[in-house]
Amino acid sequence: MKVKIKRLGKEGPYFQTYDLEVDGTPTVLEILSRIKEEQDPTLAFRAMCRSSICGTCGVKMNGRAVLACKERVTEEEVVLEPLEGFPVLRDLVTDHEGIPRRLKTYRLWLEPGEGEVAILPEDSRALEKPSDCILCGICDSVCPPVLEGSPFAGPMVLTRFYRVSSDKRDGVGDERIENVGASSFMGCVHCSNCTLLCPKSCMPERWVTVIEGKLAGMGYIQRSGQDFDFLSF
Ligand code: SF4
Ligand code: SF4
Ligand code: FES
Repeated sequence: MKVKIKRLGKEGPYFQTYDLEVDGTPTVLEILSRIKEEQDPTLAFRAMCRSSICGTCGVKMNGRAVLACKERVTEEEVVLEPLEGFPVLRDLVTDHEGIPRRLKTYRLWLEPGEGEVAILPEDSRALEKPSDCILCGICDSVCPPVLEGSPFAGPMVLTRFYRVSSDKRDGVGDERIENVGASSFMGCVHCSNCTLLCPKSCMPERWVTVIEGKLAGMGYIQRSGQDFDFLSF
């Protein structure tokens, strides 16, 4: 197998090619680990859990954003690059520091309100998909408005927003939108990239659409048929 990897040198990015004998269909992470152990200890990539839980190992494989520990390689030639939209620290390692920062800005944790609230099995089931999000950033890395640098918060933040604000125990609710400003919650062009590529099948576009419905209810978005007409405010 030929593995071409985009690396970051002192002079800027360049591609380096490695030849590897492989059996079966290894994961991208297994390939990277073997290259590092057997051929080039200077190669940098990141992985922690090796089981699709920590969200740290996202890379682009042949142009498609994937989790390195989950994606199996079937091709004889593979090109690996860092995820789009995140600053590259070294080789395939991108800077994820902005992720917890954004969660803090949007206050995306559960703040229980007054009194006890019963959570029924159907309540948990309704939040199963967004709860599976591992904050890997893959959806943001393929989201056109995010990549263009628009104020849109992106599918990762909005998936987490939906998760916490739809929880019956949450005591903050719409204050999160009012605190940050509704424009951060608008701008999705409904390309479906996020839902197609999410490695945990969280369906981010669906929650973005539900939030748009909420914004319409709050008077921030005027809906006409299937289109959205954004009001100035
Ligand atoms: S929604 Fe999916 S792609 Fe986006 S951060 Fe969560 S797990 Fe990753
Ligand atoms: S569907 Fe919306 S949120 Fe998802 S990638 Fe496209 S523009 Fe971004
Ligand atoms: S190493 Fe944790 S998600 Fe891949």
